[in-house]
Parts: sequence; C-alpha cells; structure tokens
Amino acid sequence: MVADGCVAPREPKDAVAQTFTERIAEAMATDATSTEPGPAGPDPFQPAKLGPITLRNRIIKAATFEAATPDALVTDDLIRYHRLPAAGGVGMTTVAYCAVSPGGRTDGWQLWMRPEAIPGLRKLTDTIHGEGAAISAQIGHAGPVANPRTNKARALAPVRFFNPLSMRFAKKATRADIDDVMAAHANAARLAIEAGFDAVEVHLGHNYFASSFLSPLINKRRDEFGGSLANRAKVARGTVQAVREAVGSQIAVIAKLNMSDGVRGGIPLEESLQTAKWLQEDGALDALELTAGSSLVNPMYLFRGGAPVKEFAANFKPPLSWGIRMSGHKFFREYPYREAYLLEQARQFRAELSMPLILLGGITNRETMDLAMAEGFEFVAMGRALLAEPDLLNRIQTDQTVKSACTHCNLCMPTIYSQTHCVVTGKPN
Ligand SMILES: Cc1cc2nc3c(=O)[nH]c(=O)nc-3n(C[C@H](O)[C@H](O)[C@H](O)COP(=O)(O)O)c2cc1C
Ligand code: SF4
Repeated sequence: MVADGCVAPREPKDAVAQTFTERIAEAMATDATSTEPGPAGPDPFQPAKLGPITLRNRIIKAATFEAATPDALVTDDLIRYHRLPAAGGVGMTTVAYCAVSPGGRTDGWQLWMRPEAIPGLRKLTDTIHGEGAAISAQIGHAGPVANPRTNKARALAPVRFFNPLSMRFAKKATRADIDDVMAAHANAARLAIEAGFDAVEVHLGHNYFASSFLSPLINKRRDEFGGSLANRAKVARGTVQAVREAVGSQIAVIAKLNMSDGVRGGIPLEESLQTAKWLQEDGALDALELTAGSSLVNPMYLFRGGAPVKEFAANFKPPLSWGIRMSGHKFFREYPYREAYLLEQARQFRAELSMPLILLGGITNRETMDLAMAEGFEFVAMGRALLAEPDLLNRIQTDQTVKSACTHCNLCMPTIYSQTHCVVTGKPN
C-alpha cells in the first residue's frame, strides 16, 4: 500500500451544465438539410451495435460487485441483482468481477470462471435475456489487490508487494505467471460464451493485475514488462489480444481502462491515452470503458462524493480497523461529486480515438446521457444510480425529468463485505 504517495491532481473546471445548454442551442441552430450528424447525438434509448451484438439501447449497467456468491457460484440473489436492472430497461448489465483464477479474486467469496460455475451462469444469462437485456461478464485478475488469505492462493504483482489489508505479500510475477494469467483470461472468455454471455469486459483498471503493470508507481521491473510504457503495456495488450483470439466474433469484447490513477507517480492521462491508441490499433476491442482511480491507493478518485471511512473500518478486526479509522482519511481522500465527473478526462480520449467509447462516472439522468451522446460517446455506463434504483431507466424513458435518488454517499461501498445494496433505498434487496 502506498497511501502516503497519494496526491490528487487538480480538479478540472466544471463546464458540464453550460456545455450541455450550449450544445442543445447549437443543435437547434443546425441546418436541417445537413447530412452531418447533429451535435445533439443519437437517442440513448435507441438500439446500437456493440461489435457483433446489438443492444436495445446505449445504457450499460456498470459492474458493482454484488457480494452474492458466497461459495464462488451463482446464487438466486445474484440473479435477482441483475434481473432488476434488466427488467428496469438497461441495454446490458455487467456481472462484476468474474475472476479468471482463484488467486485472481479480490477475496475468496468471489466467483471465478470454471466449468463448475457454468450451469448457474447459464441460468443467470437466460434470466437476463428473458428480460430483453444483454449481459456481460467482467473478467479480470486482481493482482496486488487480491487477498491471498481468503483466496487461499498466492497473489501476483509486477514486483513483490505488501498488501496491508490481507497482511500478506503478493509474489513478483514471472514470465510464466504472466502467460498463465493471459491464458486464464482467454479461458474465462471461452467459458463466458458457453454460459451464454453476450460480452466480456476485460478489467484493465483500478491497479488490478494489468493496471498494476501499467502503473509506473507499482511496476518497477527492469525486464521486458517494466521500464518504458511500451513494456508496461504488454500485459494489457496481450490480455485483450488473447481474449479476442479466444472468442473471435462470437461475443463483444470491451475493456475497462484507467484514464488516470489520481495518484502522484501513478498512471498519468498522457500515458493512458497512448495505451488506448495501441489498444485501438490492435483492433481487438469493440469498445473502451473509461474509468479512473486506484483500489490500492486512491479509491474515491473513482467514486467522488462521501468517503465512508468508519463504515469501511467496521468490516475489519482490530488492530486493522483502528488503523483504518485513524489514517483512513488519507486512503479515502474525498472528492466533490458532480454529474459526469470523468467527462473532462474522457473528452481527451474522444478527441484522439475513433473507436467506440463508454463514458462512466456520475451519469444519473437523461440530460447527462444526452450530453454524453452529444460529446460523441457511443454508450454510457451507470453504477450507483442503477444500484439505488434498478427501474430508473424505465422511469426516465417515460419522464425525461426524473432524477436519481442516489446521494453519492458511497455507503454502498462497504456493503460489498456483506451483501451489496444501496443503504438509502435498500435496493436490490
Ligand atoms: C458497490 C460498488 C461496487 C463496485 N464494484 C466494482 C467492480 O467489481 N468492478 C469494477 O470495475 N468497478 C466496480 N465499481 C465501480 C463502478 O463500476 C463505477 O465505475 C463507479 O461506481 C462509478 O460509476 P457511477 O458514478 O455510475 O456509480 C463498484 C462501485 C460500487 C458503488
Ligand atoms: S448507498 Fe445508495 S445512495 Fe449512497 S452512493 Fe450507494 S447507491 Fe448511491
């Protein structure tokens, strides 16, 4: 853990509301005979192609770890967790964190992709398809974030790495370990097809395995996987390539990539933009979902809003809980919430990339969805707003002025240690 090194970059100026109004005015002023797409962008509630599949709309439920797989297998709770937003109108729901190996889980109660899990996953995908939505599996390896104590398997990182939450060291991954992790992603993607998924989302963010290799702060290797960005990006690119080769064009392949870690010395935006360009050139992705922050060092950079230090600490035993209470404000550094809070960074990716992009972070209402479309993003992903109200999209479709009940308190975050739910609305329970 390198919490002391955590320094947030300056907040960009918020121009979201003004920009939207200006763009709508611009759209209304557009020559109606023009064949160019209008600056207002497509209707987010109309069907859209995502690689080989077509979604009924452009709205994706972002992965929010469900904590509904106590035996690392699908349960009725997990099915309900996804059935609700599917019935609530989402284009595609994402099953959070389907680890590619037992040691790739953040904790031992997470599902990992193996033949034994297929019948349950098949029941899950059938249920979601029955509601008219598509379903994606987020596949990944947690790397230095993995808890070897509860996983009962060794954690892997670019360098030997101490995880203070598990009080264990992650092992420095060898070339053979890296090959195994890439092969495990390919295998997980094949199993996802067998289980009826429409897409896989490769986790390249939050300082998990691939992201920790990208990070100049964590990756201090001197071999072919360390040093230059080209070397540090090999795991991310190789993993995506391996997944595409495994699935061909049978399902869509997305990746969730950090635009920046929000940490001094971590992945900066310019480097991430270059990685994204390489991923685009490699041609193995159908879309890129743009995220930020570090589960190891600066998680609130991803969330914004309230920092639930006390509630997080309550999930651990003393002396760790005392330590979290005392120094947690450093780890859970608080950032003010605003709608579309990752848009300023994501715009820079939109300007330099031609591949489909998914805007994430603080999208909660129709106005922000329209803004994302007007800014050229093909899809939006929504996490907390749909956790708080799985039926939100149906209501927005009927009444465009409907606002989300999510208060950005982030008290749902510590519930991932019991059963994930919104503490404000009680959903999805
Ligand atoms: C309770 C909870 C659990 C989450 N679990 C995951 C996860 O397993 N994988 C992941 O990539 N992101 C996870 N996230 C992050 C979300 O996918 C999303 O990036 C973040 O909440 C910001 O989007 P939002 O403003 O729409 O909520 C989680 C978020 C929450 C609130
Ligand atoms: S607990 Fe509910 S209201 Fe609070 S951030 Fe999470 S989803 Fe939103």
